[in-house]
Amino acid sequence: MSSAEQKARIASSFGARANTYDGTAKLQRDIADLLATHLPDMYWPRVLEIGAGTGFLTRHLFARYPQGRHLITDIAPEMVDACHRNHPHAAAQFAVMDGESPSVEGGFDLIASSMAVQWFDDPHSGLERLRAFLNPEGMVLYAALGHDSFREWDACLQEAGLDSGLTARHELPGVFTESRIAVKYDNARAFLKALRDPGSGTPRPGYKSQSFSLRRACRLLEERYGAEVTWHVVYGTLCHNA
Ligand SMILES: C[S@@+](CC[C@H](N)C(=O)[O-])C[C@H]1O[C@@H](n2cnc3c(N)ncnc32)[C@H](O)[C@@H]1O
Repeated sequence: MSSAEQKARIASSFGARANTYDGTAKLQRDIADLLATHLPDMYWPRVLEIGAGTGFLTRHLFARYPQGRHLITDIAPEMVDACHRNHPHAAAQFAVMDGESPSVEGGFDLIASSMAVQWFDDPHSGLERLRAFLNPEGMVLYAALGHDSFREWDACLQEAGLDSGLTARHELPGVFTESRIAVKYDNARAFLKALRDPGSGTPRPGYKSQSFSLRRACRLLEERYGAEVTWHVVYGTLCHNA
């Protein structure tokens, strides 16, 4: 499967959930709130948001930089529409854009993103590339799924002889803090549903589900871990020259 096809699947999966995302993405909301506490003091900044979704972080960007010039983007058109509806901010522009290859002029003071860059083909390079879109004093600030996420589920899949269909989890640059959030689900299906419902269920390219073994992995997750799964979230920053 080509990169363009995989991105179209990701956009379609998130887009289909744009109207229900806010009710199913509590963790993502909390993460955006925490990321917002790290927003730097800036006056009149030119701001680019990547993977804005329905606007959990956008809300903070508008509140923190009321005089800023904001370009709010997402790869899914339905998410861009939902974000615009939720935040009809007069001074902002909204656009559909792949944050991994931004089709925009550089010169941003701040590029912000919460829980989106893990969907890039290559999150590490994608983040590094964003530096080129910064002003000399500018910064990229992001939160993303860390490499150690869902290790309980990975162990169960391995024991059941299955590859993980979840999006690849990478080591990312510029991490300044991280958190491990253990979430206890009612059962393994509830964990998978919690990924699927906000739109995060797109399997990585080439993944073929084997439902019998998957049932075994689900049973293992419940027996070994009481259906508790850890979300590893990293918070990072990159500067123009650092
Ligand atoms: C888990 S949601 C996070 C949304 C929002 N930032 C939040 O904190 O709730 C991930 C978002 O990233 C978007 N996304 C995925 N891949 C992307 C890409 N390559 N470029 C831009 N946005 C992308 C999805 O469409 C989705 O809206």
